[in-house]
Amino acid sequence: MRTILVSGGNSGIGLRAARELLDRGHCVVLLGRDRRKGEAALASFGDAAGRASFHSVELSTHDGVRDAARRVLAEHDRLDAVLHSTGVLTFKELRTADGLHPFFSVNYLSRYHLTQLLLPALRRAGQARVVMMTASVPPSTPAEYDRFPAFEPFDFRHDREPIQLANHHYAAHLTRGEPQLRAGVVNAGAVRTDILRMSPWYVRATAKVVGPLFFDSVEKSAHNVVEACLREDWAAPMYWPKPGDFEQRLPIDLDTSTTRRLLDVSRNLTGV
Ligand SMILES: NC(=O)c1ccc[n+]([C@@H]2O[C@H](COP(=O)([O-])OP(=O)(O)OC[C@H]3O[C@@H](n4cnc5c(N)ncnc54)[C@H](OP(=O)(O)O)[C@@H]3O)[C@@H](O)[C@H]2O)c1
Repeated sequence: MRTILVSGGNSGIGLRAARELLDRGHCVVLLGRDRRKGEAALASFGDAAGRASFHSVELSTHDGVRDAARRVLAEHDRLDAVLHSTGVLTFKELRTADGLHPFFSVNYLSRYHLTQLLLPALRRAGQARVVMMTASVPPSTPAEYDRFPAFEPFDFRHDREPIQLANHHYAAHLTRGEPQLRAGVVNAGAVRTDILRMSPWYVRATAKVVGPLFFDSVEKSAHNVVEACLREDWAAPMYWPKPGDFEQRLPIDLDTSTTRRLLDVSRNLTGV
């Protein structure tokens, strides 16, 4: 029986993945902001709820991530996998208490920061995994990092890919530094979830009208992250481009000097 932390596990794709992991006999620790959604998730697990717990946390700030890590480590000295399914979708010029854009701090930096703080528990598991959910961003996507990490003013069209590709760089970095650990990135596809709640009205309206024609099911979207948390037949760092198809995967092979630069910045921002 494995213990898997599902960040973003009170909602959408993360919740679906947590349910699947419980069905396969494992334990899950869910993180999310909304306590009511967390409690509803636990209640929906039925008998399996005894193998699940939920922490209400704020992962957009450095202090919030530190608090989340403290709370998880107080209860678990060993973690077999961390699945990062937290995310926000907003085009607005917003800033967190640390002066960063939440698309950057939630969709990338919190994953780096939380994983770094949880490394002692992951190392204790031996063959642990770190799996990060992003949109469709193949490793070969060209990206400019001249605006990293402030992305000021935020421009979703230009900033989305470099921010999401930072996850791939972190997966590559983790694999090099922690040989026992597997790290990968999974494309979520397009799924109707709460992710649209902060998006502009025209995005929500378009999703409502044309969504049923091209949206993936939440089950299909959760498939690859669950497999990446459990299966042995992959070596890191890897990217899964197609929801529902674990066999189709691309090695993450990135320019190491860019990886070093992004990781130096992430270390300076978070102190770990
Ligand atoms: N759905 C799609 O079509 C799609 C497309 C591309 C990528 N993705 C990615 O897939 C992942 C899962 O998203 P989803 O579609 O399942 O959306 P979702 O249902 O909105 O899930 C997002 C999760 O992130 C949590 N979260 C957001 N901000 C947070 C914060 N500041 N602190 C702590 N937790 C926070 C949410 O918690 P609360 O609900 O409690 O706020 C929720 O659990 C995300 O990384 C998303 O970017 C999704």
